[in-house]
Amino acid sequence: MVFPEYRPRRLRRNSALRGLIRETRLSVDQLVYPLFVMTGTQKREEIVSMPGVFRITVDLLEKEARECLALGIKSVLLFGLPDKKDGVGSGAHAKNGIIQQAVRELKKKVPEMLVITDVCLCEYTDHGHCGCIIDNDVDNDATLEILAKTALSHAQAGADMVAPSDMMDGRIAEIRAVLDENNFESIPIMSYAVKYASAFYGPFRDAAECAPQFGDRRSYQMDPANGREALREATLDVDEGADILMVKPAVAYLDVIARLREEFDLPVAAYHVSGEYAMIKAAAEKGWIDGEKVMEETLLSIKRAGADIIITYFAKEMAKILQSPR
Ligand code: PBG
Repeated sequence: MVFPEYRPRRLRRNSALRGLIRETRLSVDQLVYPLFVMTGTQKREEIVSMPGVFRITVDLLEKEARECLALGIKSVLLFGLPDKKDGVGSGAHAKNGIIQQAVRELKKKVPEMLVITDVCLCEYTDHGHCGCIIDNDVDNDATLEILAKTALSHAQAGADMVAPSDMMDGRIAEIRAVLDENNFESIPIMSYAVKYASAFYGPFRDAAECAPQFGDRRSYQMDPANGREALREATLDVDEGADILMVKPAVAYLDVIARLREEFDLPVAAYHVSGEYAMIKAAAEKGWIDGEKVMEETLLSIKRAGADIIITYFAKEMAKILQSPR
């Protein structure tokens, strides 16, 4: 009989051994929890296609943030649901816009919470595109100015970091320049550097009521077939002054996360998006998978691929698991 010389099973025999040699560990420090904020008072609406995720009014932010902190979550990413929309997304940079109100409230009541804002126009335009439309097309350069104004208004409201998600060319340089001119040189930019035109955003578009009213986003978001192009997009953003590079979605793009980790020395973030969350929730609800285990395995795989930061609607659920002794 020929025996295997090396037996990997030796190190898998019990939980202590497995713990000793575990290569990847999730930590609550790296989780970012997205929040949807709407106008009004004392309202908390569950998003139908994202069970467990709510749209909340500004006055309920403090309670939400304290709950997050109690679980060890120290960063949130804000999305706004404005009352009014128009062709150029003016609500995105309104002094008293929904995000500006939300940021001021959070930084006043829970200053220790790191507040990151999504910088985009799609929630604020009546046509649902991420920029303004000229000649039936999303106009890149006209949009840049509005985006920079938006980022500046977030910083003025007190945001700790801005995260542009629009995918216009040159927006990192434009935003960096405007922030610097206004003495916000210490506010970092987390760039949605590699954002694909993905069907996984479906539930988010319900949540934020921002589905495009005509056409789709393929003329600005990336083609899911392209991996090399991700490196080019990321290089541009690094050159323009991005501080953190994000890949979005996460699970269908683990190869892209790994490539960015390999090629760049900046922190890499991955956005585990609404559809990725919804699929796990739906299958778990049907009893087809163990939702909690699949959640953990999924987030672990994102970390193993190379992400330093994970933005996920599972942040609170995962934090609870990380808190409990195992
Ligand atoms: C705004 C934005 C979107 C998401 C984050 N920022 C929607 C989109 O690009 O269509 C999606 C997040 C998610 O699906 O969880 N542009």
